[in-house]
Amino acid sequence: MPVLIHYWFVILLTFAYFCDTLVLRPEQADSVISNDEDVNRGHIRRKRFLGLSRKFKLNKRYQECIGPGDAKGHCKHLTFCPIDVLTGTRATLEYLCVIEKTFVGVCCPDDVALSGMVGSQLIMDLPAGGDDYGDQNNITGCGLSAEGRTMNSKQSSRVQEWPWLAAFYHPEDYEQRSEQQFCGGAVITDNHILSAAHCFQGESPQNIKVRLGEYDFSKSNETRFRDYDVAEIINHENFDYSTYENDIAIVRLAEPTSFNSYIWPICLPPTGVNFEDETVVVAGWGYKKYGVASFSEMLLQVSIPVWNQQKCVDSFLQRITEYNICAAAYEGGKDSCQGDSGGPLMYQLPNGRWVTIGVVSWGLECGNVGSPGIYTRVNRYLPWIIKNTIAKT
Ligand code: ARG
Repeated sequence: MPVLIHYWFVILLTFAYFCDTLVLRPEQADSVISNDEDVNRGHIRRKRFLGLSRKFKLNKRYQECIGPGDAKGHCKHLTFCPIDVLTGTRATLEYLCVIEKTFVGVCCPDDVALSGMVGSQLIMDLPAGGDDYGDQNNITGCGLSAEGRTMNSKQSSRVQEWPWLAAFYHPEDYEQRSEQQFCGGAVITDNHILSAAHCFQGESPQNIKVRLGEYDFSKSNETRFRDYDVAEIINHENFDYSTYENDIAIVRLAEPTSFNSYIWPICLPPTGVNFEDETVVVAGWGYKKYGVASFSEMLLQVSIPVWNQQKCVDSFLQRITEYNICAAAYEGGKDSCQGDSGGPLMYQLPNGRWVTIGVVSWGLECGNVGSPGIYTRVNRYLPWIIKNTIAKT
């Protein structure tokens, strides 16, 4: 009998493999970079949680089911279930499920995605892990933009260079022209913006809006920006306003956005990397100079090094923890500043994809020698991000 089960299982997987090859073909041909959003929409919609490449199938939770040990789970592609649901069990077939009437998946228990996992397995479960993609020729998925495929050290960015940049604003102040935007953020799924918790103290979803796809606030048709209402602000439950510890938040849009060459998600970073001495980029519409209300209408960017952690700790009287990452030019003059908060500190992986490794949090003035900008270290918060994005729906 066990032999028979194995035999059936091999047939099922072979069937799944061939179905998969067939079904994926049209998607491999579509392009991220197309300006034509309606052409893209159909495919991109289905890629909401990304993880698509020739090697990897869509990392998504499908229908609910009961997994091993009677645990509540969801049907997933085998590649994305981090526990070995299928070994050592005589009831193997019990945990197989069918995805969209086409693929064979496994019933993967939900809490596996959230409990103490490290390394690449965790990355597999993210809304959009930059390391999911080994194939350099694959031009779909997070962290790629129409512009900015290579590092650019100019001060002002180019249109479409950072399509994941989001701007939070108060509609009333915006209309009266008394404020442009008060904080930045980064698109990580079609429904969620990663930002800083200090941005939303005293704010409620009804009082703010988020603009995606913006570049130059002084022009209205250089991009096809879109404004979204906010459904929910999820501040980290341990955010401490006096120390800025756990300065991270997720903002859920009232309706999902569609992706196009102006609006596109950034990837989440790999775990276990500290990025010390790497050159990274921070972008935002914040102050050009500390102490002067000098918001920039155009999206600005600057390339800066990630500081050695100990050097950063030694530079401050305040507590800098391993949940922070520090970056700025050592010689001063290059830094984020007021109004850039919540925006992403971006690193380009060897596979060409941009990942957000930090969230602009605080600093002592801006650009001072010996005093870098302090960022929330995103890869320390991946379980929290999963819990509040894909695992929440
Ligand atoms: N807290 C500031 C804000 O709300 C960000 C300051 C960043 N400062 C720095 N020197 N990097 O916009």
